[in-house]
Amino acid sequence: MNIYLIGFMGSGKSTVGRKLATELNWNFIDLDNIVEEQEGLPIPVIFKSHGESYFREAESRALKSVSNRSGLVVACGGGTPCSTENMAEIKESGIVVYLNMTVKALVSRLEKSKTIRPLLASKGKEDLETTVEKLFKERTPWYEQADIIAESLNADIEKIAMQLAARIKESEN
Ligand code: S3P
Repeated sequence: MNIYLIGFMGSGKSTVGRKLATELNWNFIDLDNIVEEQEGLPIPVIFKSHGESYFREAESRALKSVSNRSGLVVACGGGTPCSTENMAEIKESGIVVYLNMTVKALVSRLEKSKTIRPLLASKGKEDLETTVEKLFKERTPWYEQADIIAESLNADIEKIAMQLAARIKESEN
């Protein structure tokens, strides 16, 4: 069994995931890194050279390679769970945790983030807000299929990771 963290770009999946893995003494994996390793290219280059649908196929392949394994805390990409096939793959191989954050909090975190995200690249503040809002609405029905919804309204990521770890340890006993 694995634990999958899903949620919008900038919602803290990797930070919570790392902390959660430490708490549980499991291994942490960032799915974006697996895609980059498998393709031998950084994500922005994959998008630029091959387009989004190629990236999605690579992402699904990376997910399959991870879902065959066990005892992993996996930080998914923001779009990973947003297809029937990927969501089924995730649900069949683990517990799914959605890190829910308001659009306002997401935009403020994304503005400060140094990660290049092709879907949001080169957008001014207003544009960024509009894009995040639109994508967030489209994706929420997927994210809400998670087994656990963690409200990270105040972005108190440490606390969320600890609470999740306690909850998962409890369910193991
Ligand atoms: C994406 C999110 C990114 C990365 C890619 C596409 C998305 O991951 O997979 O840029 O579609 O939401 P993060 O959620 O880790 O930023």
